[in-house]
Order: sequence, then C-alpha cells, then structure tokens
Amino acid sequence: MCGIVGILGLKPVAPDLVDALRRLEYRGYDSAGIATVENGHLDRQRAEGKLRNLEARLHDAPLSGRTGIGHTRWATHGRPNETNAHPHMSKRVSVVHNGIIENFRELRTELQAKGHNFQSDTDTEAVVHLITEEMDKGLSPVDAVGAVLRKLRGAFALGIIFAGEDDLMIAARQGSPLALGHGLGEMYLGSDAIALAGLTDRITYLEEGDWAVMHRDSLQIYDIDAKLVDRPVTKMTDAARLVDKGNHRHFMAKEIHEQPEMISHTLANYLDMATQTVRLPDIGMDLSKLTRVTISACGTAYYAGLVAKYWIERYARLPVEIDIASELRYRNAPLPKDGLAVFVSQSGETADTLATLRYCKAQGQKIASVVNVRTSTIARESDVVLPTLAGPEIGVASTKAFTAQLAALAALALALGRARGAITQAEEQCLVRALMEVPRHISKMLQDESNYERMAHDLSKAKDVLYLGRGVNFPLALEGALKLKEISYIHAEGYAAGELKHGPIALIDENVPVVVVAPQDDLYEKTISNVQEVAARGGRIYLMSDAPAESTGCLLDEYIAMPKVHPFIQPLIYAIPVQLIAYHTAVFMGTDVDQPRNLAKSVTVE
Ligand code: G6P
Repeated sequence: MCGIVGILGLKPVAPDLVDALRRLEYRGYDSAGIATVENGHLDRQRAEGKLRNLEARLHDAPLSGRTGIGHTRWATHGRPNETNAHPHMSKRVSVVHNGIIENFRELRTELQAKGHNFQSDTDTEAVVHLITEEMDKGLSPVDAVGAVLRKLRGAFALGIIFAGEDDLMIAARQGSPLALGHGLGEMYLGSDAIALAGLTDRITYLEEGDWAVMHRDSLQIYDIDAKLVDRPVTKMTDAARLVDKGNHRHFMAKEIHEQPEMISHTLANYLDMATQTVRLPDIGMDLSKLTRVTISACGTAYYAGLVAKYWIERYARLPVEIDIASELRYRNAPLPKDGLAVFVSQSGETADTLATLRYCKAQGQKIASVVNVRTSTIARESDVVLPTLAGPEIGVASTKAFTAQLAALAALALALGRARGAITQAEEQCLVRALMEVPRHISKMLQDESNYERMAHDLSKAKDVLYLGRGVNFPLALEGALKLKEISYIHAEGYAAGELKHGPIALIDENVPVVVVAPQDDLYEKTISNVQEVAARGGRIYLMSDAPAESTGCLLDEYIAMPKVHPFIQPLIYAIPVQLIAYHTAVFMGTDVDQPRNLAKSVTVE
C-alpha cells in the first residue's frame, strides 16, 4: 500500500527520488521520506502529509548522495506522523518497506529484551534492528539481509541501503510487487514500473520470494531458496509514461473523460468489428462444459464483477457465484469441478484478490483475470488474462478502470453465451453492435456537466445519501454510493431498490437525497414504485433515466436525462452520471479528489 523507490545513481539522487515518489503517491500519501548515503554516512529527511511537505524540507535541508531510497506511506502500523515515516534507520542501515511484517510483535519484543530501542511504532523498524544486529555480529550487508529475510513473515517489499556502501542496494519481494530498472551505469527499484518511467524503460520484475543485490553495473537475483536466478528484462509500455493531468484539474476528471477512448481500446481487443462477434483469448477449457463461474474482487472491481454476474446468468445461462475477496479467501468454500474463477482487479496486486485466486487455483478452478496492469502478479498467476486497456489510473477513486472492466466482462459474458448456445449468432451480433455504441454515447454525455455542478451544490449539504437500483443496475447504486463516500466523505449507501422497504426507508426524510438509477427496462415500473414510496415520505429524488421525468408521477429534485440504449450496455452508460455526481460534489466541497483521506489505490495488505 505504500510506495518505495531506490536509485543507485551517477549524480545526487534526491530530486529523482522525489519525482519517482510522485508517481507512486497513488499508493499512499500519509507521509514521505528519503534517505541517502553521504560520505559513507546515512542521512534522511521525512515529513508528515503529502510529498510537497517533504519537498519543502529538502528545499531547506537538501540531501546529496548518489545512493538513496524513498517512501510514500499509507499507514498500517502507527499513526501517520513523522516519527513513523520511512525510511527507518540505524547508523548502519536504512530501510523502506511496503506491506506488513506479520510477526513484528514477536521480533520487536525479542529485540527490546536484547536492549534495542525503538523510535517508531512501525513494523518496519524491526527489520532495521535485525539487520543491524546481524551486521554487528560481523556479517556482510548481503549475508545480514539474507539471514533476516528468513525470519520475516508477511507480505512485503523492501529497499535497503547501508552506511559505507555507496554502490550497494538490496531489494526483496515477498507478496508485494517490486520492479527493478536498468539505466546506463545506474540501477533503480520501484513498487511498480510507473515509478521508474522518468528514469528507464528497461524493467525486471522480481518474482515472489526473490531478493536482489544491486550495484550500479550489476545485478544478482536470488530466489526463495537462495539460488541465483535469471529474471528477464522487459520493456515498459508507453502507457506507463502517460501520467499527467493534461488540461484537467484532477486526474479523476481526466480519467472520466478518457473513458470513451479506453472503452474503445478495450472493446477492440475483444470484438471483431467486421463480423460483429466476440473474440476472446483461449481460456483453455471447453466453455460449453463449464459448471459455474466464481467471481471475486474488492471495491469497485467487485461491483464490476457483480454486473458480470447478472450478464453471465442472463446471456450465458450459467450459474455465477460472487463474493468479495476478503470473505471468499477464508470461507473455505467448496468449488465445483469444471469451474472457472474470474478475478477482477485494476492493479492486479490487491492482496485479498490474489490470495483468493491462489485458493481457487488450489481447488482446481481454471483462473481468468480481468486486470489493468498486465505485468501484475494476478495477471502472471492466471491461466488466461483478459486485459483492460484503460492505461494507468492515478485517481484513487476508480473510474475508467471500472468501465474498462465492464467492457471486458461484457465480452466474456457473450463468449460464454455463444459457447453454451445460450445466444444465437444474430443475438450475439446485436449485443456486439450495442457494445460498439458505448464510446459514442459516453462522449456525448461528457459534453455538458453543468447539471452536475448544480447537483453538487445541493448534495454537499446532505449528511446521508441513498442510491437505489435494480437488476443489472443495482451494482451501479453500490458503486455510486462508494464513489460519493470515498471522495466527498458524505455517508452514502447503495441498496437494491426492492430492499428499501425492509429497513432503509426508515431513514427517508426531506434531508436525505435518494439517487435512483432507473433505466426504462423491464424493471422500470417496479423501481418507480419504490421512488413513489420515497416521494410519499418527503424524500428528495434524483432520478437518472431514459424515461420522461413525468412518467414517474412524482416531483423530482433532479432529473438526469439518459440516452436510450440497449439494456445490455446500461451499466456502462449509467456509470458516467454516477461518477460525475461524486466528482462534482467532492470538487464543490474542496476535498482532495485524487487522494482522498485514508485511502490508497493499490491495497497490497489484508
Ligand atoms: C482500493 C481502491 C479501489 C479499488 C480496490 C480494488 O480500495 O481504492 O478503487 O476498487 O482497491 O483494487 P484493484 O486494484 O484490485 O481493482
């Protein structure tokens, strides 16, 4: 969840470390710090809060040094203050760390008993003391780290530098991603390749359990059994470099506006435009024999999976089980023979999703993943990858990755439908044509956002907001509520409209806006009955629909006119107003839209 970087450079590295951290701020932004080796000594600067605070520190007290590590933090152990900020260090060693050392309490107690004084509340500091202790016994830095790694449990990525060692850095990966970069006489490490985009495009990804001894002009990688191994050097894709806001005020706005293009790219990967059919990579099993699909994911990706459940059941007539990954991984659920497990993840690194994937694999499921980062662990551990071509998503609240996930999952649903004979070729062509229309509709909807600015004004006064939807659009209500609470901090809940009367209706009064996703489909009448129940209790209704406002028979506070589209593609289309409502409300309220408090984009801890 934190971001780490390291540079063995030819000139002072502090400015490049800060630059690389900026690209990693999406992973956490509670505090930041860097440490360098200067004339054989370790020195560091750290600051609470955003990276700009660290920059201000460095402006007043610069660090020279051609060897350095950096960190941007999402707190797991210890409050987000300067004392707990990384790098942590002793006189001999400095460490940056992403992930959790699960046995840190035992380690800490043992070390304290031996007289070690801890400065911070972090799990990371135990690693510093352990390495120092081994070095004090006379071990070399490399041997000391090797010995310590065997003692650590949990999921982590580490970057380590040493006093007196200007040409040495050690990287270790166990459960948290780590990329190494090759420069001209320089060497780098980063939590992902994007961090290194300004420095090199030649990347080596460490595998689980790997650790690397880095020098400016050489690299040795050891696997979990301490065997020297070769890991390939790959070229970073151009997409990873495109990380700036363009003309937009926030990354989130830019990413919302990129959706027509990113959905087009993703669809082009799965649809044969000429024959209007779906073209999927080989899943490696006879799809007509599939007994069940199990979907799992976290957060917004889970809601994309929930839409897919409705699609696969309807268009492929195949039973689908779905659960959030943090539940499924521990539920010891029996999984059927000839089952396909589908994992949805923007980052491809979410710890719970990855653990669930491994559980399903061990249970004999075929593994397919819908991921945005093709080099990610989830992608690498899947039997088949259905990539989303959304490009790097920087805004913490997911937008374009969500709709790109929907695009890939829609293609999967149709491919399953065709393989199982649940849809005819003519139906497939009709549904593919509908999908091809998505980018055009979304472009049109993004031309005028003035409605949303007005709504934001109103919503910003609310303490609670309810979102309602039914059928395939129920997940949109959940996603709408999640988006709003994530970035505006207004409490919001999404409900299946039919559940309203089983509890949430008690909350309705004239202060509670109710946002209703209500396309004119076969469930429209039912949803409108629920809207009338809200109106009868004085609730304020914000309706998004392609049916005329009058057809509701209620007084609406807001009406968002939606284009008439095929019911199949409604979730992709209705995702847009859901995102815009949250975005404009947050902008109006002046919150930190791209980096909302307490959140992180990539959650590599449980
Ligand atoms: C975090 C992010 C969400 C995301 C979720 C799953 O909570 O803030 O936007 O939906 O993780 O992440 P993934 O990378 O697996 O899609």
